[in-house]
Amino acid sequence: MAVRAFGPALKHEWCLDPRITYLNHGTVGAPPRRVLTHQQAIRDEIERQPAAFLLRGLSNASFVGGSRPAVPRMRAAAAAVAAFLGARGDDLVFVDNASAGANAVLRSLTFAPGDEIVLTSHGYGAILQAARFVARRAGAVVRLVEVPYPAFDAGRLVEALTAQLGPRTRLVVVDHVTAESALVLPVAEIARRCRDAGVPVLVDGAHVPGALALDIPSLGVDWYAANLHKWAFSPRSAGVLWAAPDRQADLHPPVISWGLDQGFTEEFDWVGTRDPSPWLAAPAGLEFLEELGFAQVRAWNHDLAWRAGQLLADRWGTAVPVPESVIGTMVTVPVPARLGTTPADAARLRDRLLVEHGIEVQVHAAAGAVWTRVSAQVYCDLSDVARLADAVADADA
Ligand SMILES: Cc1ncc(COP(=O)(O)O)c(C=O)c1O
Repeated sequence: MAVRAFGPALKHEWCLDPRITYLNHGTVGAPPRRVLTHQQAIRDEIERQPAAFLLRGLSNASFVGGSRPAVPRMRAAAAAVAAFLGARGDDLVFVDNASAGANAVLRSLTFAPGDEIVLTSHGYGAILQAARFVARRAGAVVRLVEVPYPAFDAGRLVEALTAQLGPRTRLVVVDHVTAESALVLPVAEIARRCRDAGVPVLVDGAHVPGALALDIPSLGVDWYAANLHKWAFSPRSAGVLWAAPDRQADLHPPVISWGLDQGFTEEFDWVGTRDPSPWLAAPAGLEFLEELGFAQVRAWNHDLAWRAGQLLADRWGTAVPVPESVIGTMVTVPVPARLGTTPADAARLRDRLLVEHGIEVQVHAAAGAVWTRVSAQVYCDLSDVARLADAVADADA
């Protein structure tokens, strides 16, 4: 049982402006107040003796002497986060964000001319850029597998991706939850097909920790990059990178520093002087999630996302193109056709919703339509969604 009622009554736990209808939790996350308070306490502790905190207690790679802590602070935090993700602390490192985690993998691999990196057409643009960057330096090729959409069919996606795997395929990068379409993709099945073909898989799970129940090792993937600052209530910037034990040896952070060649965790735990407070505060985010009841939070968010999709589509005379089974905590709904089809139309609607109605929601153009992606979170309910429904229904073309 949740310890308290979900919905707008819980909004005081966040710093969110009460005048804004906030339906965009997924974009950059929103850390609860108490987690920020905890982070500030860590910062205060750092500033009482900065050199000692950062160079003696934080990580083995930065250790300058004195009595070595039994467990450096980064490792203690990694162990707590790993346990939440079904993983071992030794297989998990902190990075700034999912982009940094994916970059670490992409930039650690060696590609030759003609090698292929396979992504899907719904892959996040910044990760696609990183793949293009490493490919062009090596003369390798990026291939995109088309996601069947709006008529989404997970089976057809798996077959299309499998058909793309060839003797030159060196890596598959696949989202666990796609960014704009908000689809939960069958990553375990994709990983199984890739394993059969001898191709390693990097999963972009930016939207997954705190949104879906996650047991990373059971997915059978090689690397899993994710954010804690979106759905796991961590302060920004808190990303993680999990690597299967046999994929850790040649894996390096995007910034090379003192830990080079000292081992996976040592190398990532210290990449120069940084503020470690977001990672060290990440366990406090998970504690709040557990206090609310993680299963209840997931159920609320999923149910609200699905019901939001039905409410909006009914009101706008459109349709949610996917079944409930492939959505998590976000739903993507087309707005009425009269509101346009282009990125400029999407930007205009996004601005009007915010400026005229105080509604913060993701709006994008895709597949010949403009769509809103609604994030469900425990501080929202259907009354927030109804405001969005009215604002869009009343908007002129
Ligand atoms: C699927 C996906 N991957 C990666 C990212 C990048 O996250 P970050 O900017 O925190 O690195 C996002 C951000 O929204 C995303 O939706």
